[in-house]
Amino acid sequence: MKIIAGNWKMNGTAAQLDEMIAAVSNVATRARVILCVPYTLLRAGNANIMIAAQNVSKFDAGAHTGDVSAAQVRATGATATLVGHSEARAALGDTNADVAMRAQNAINNDLMPIICVGETDTERDLGTGADVVRRGVRESVPQNAKNGEFIIAYEPRWAIGRGITPSAPQIMDMHKIIRETLDEMGFDNTPVLYGASVTAQNVRDIINIKNVDGVLVGGASLKKQDFIPIIENAE
Ligand code: PGA
Repeated sequence: MKIIAGNWKMNGTAAQLDEMIAAVSNVATRARVILCVPYTLLRAGNANIMIAAQNVSKFDAGAHTGDVSAAQVRATGATATLVGHSEARAALGDTNADVAMRAQNAINNDLMPIICVGETDTERDLGTGADVVRRGVRESVPQNAKNGEFIIAYEPRWAIGRGITPSAPQIMDMHKIIRETLDEMGFDNTPVLYGASVTAQNVRDIINIKNVDGVLVGGASLKKQDFIPIIENAE
């Protein structure tokens, strides 16, 4: 089963989410749809759509003004969360170890973490992209995670939000590296999503690349006229 995840970033209202949930619920698809929304919009999903947060705290509770815990997210009815998205890593100064703490808290609270990894353009140009991604997986997955408890998203940071799409061989190479790394770590049941500049036009080609189990969609997940065709074309 393919996974189509949307990331609304800092966009959207409750009324827009109502509309999107209704639209997604009307699509006949075998794909699993996940929508990552701002904290203020979190709620339970339904059989057709999982509602997810965009991050959770490293901490359990306490004096962390502005932070939101995994337990609090789970209490809204949401069932998943992004962790380690490049925008959040940059804004919060997260290392891979920080991301692993967030992912562990998600798992502890029955949330499925979608752990994002990816290389910058500088890292790619220096030829260290593969190492960064390999380390991203090794260090951002919590030590005690078990098979099936998390999802990985490969997000080339040089392409996100820029309308740039890597070539199919570039995506295939990086997904192969991620799959091999997960195998070495003993995880043979981990979906690996591709995320950056996914549209209704390119989703079918991308999702059929070897070792791509789904997509994480930013800009094109905001409007139903963009997101619904992505779900439809993903079969
Ligand atoms: P984009 O964003 O689809 O707008 O490139 C992807 C993401 O940040 O998850």
